[in-house]
Amino acid sequence: MKIQGIFDTHAHYDDAQFDADREELLSALPENGVCGVINCGCTVASSKAALALSAAYPFMYCALGIHPEELSGVTDADFTALEPLYAQKKVVAVGEIGLDYHWDTVPHAVQIAAFERQILLANNLHLPVIIHDREAHADTFALLRKHRPQGVLHCFSGSAELAKEALSLGLYIGLGGAVTFKNARKPVEVAAMLPKDRLLLETDCPYMAPVPFRGKRNDSSLIAFVAEKLAEVRGEDAQALVDQCRANAMRLFQIEGE
Ligand code: NI
Repeated sequence: MKIQGIFDTHAHYDDAQFDADREELLSALPENGVCGVINCGCTVASSKAALALSAAYPFMYCALGIHPEELSGVTDADFTALEPLYAQKKVVAVGEIGLDYHWDTVPHAVQIAAFERQILLANNLHLPVIIHDREAHADTFALLRKHRPQGVLHCFSGSAELAKEALSLGLYIGLGGAVTFKNARKPVEVAAMLPKDRLLLETDCPYMAPVPFRGKRNDSSLIAFVAEKLAEVRGEDAQALVDQCRANAMRLFQIEGE
């Protein structure tokens, strides 16, 4: 039987790659096994777009925030513009926020300041954070240790050792298409060791489509392939894993009802 009850904790349906068929695709998600999606903002504009999507579809929620790669030219006024929007009902997190030292287009100090500011905001609002940490584990964890936010390390790329520290900080681990890739050694090790109540499923769509769709446009229904792989690695049933991950998402993001 087809997998049901998928909760995608990390999507970017405001991306231009969905412009041609966004409405058709989103409307069909429930019949394709998807019952929840969190769309993450990366800029002020995309956070507003995420908010609009969450208002348009009952199964959609949103996170608002400024992504580390989007900080060029961002001013105080941009952060302040987002603040009143967090009070809206379907806003469930501050994100996507964090550090990205891979592309290195924004100075580390600027990224750290913006990340810290948004973590403090989340703590103030009692909201979890959705964290992007690319090649910046040391600085990311320094801030997480310092401020102890609730939240998820999305598309976790660290070692099993680092995952243990995340767990000890009370954080969740988000895994997606990368676990199905041929060279996926670390995410598979992490997937095998995680306690079942700390694992979240995600796409990061339109990116990170799982095998056999690698390189194509991703969407939440393809999480079924991620779940199959994770279930195999963990020796669990794929549907049970999807159900557990949905319960985890609803607990972390304080979403009520089933
Ligand atoms: Ni993302």
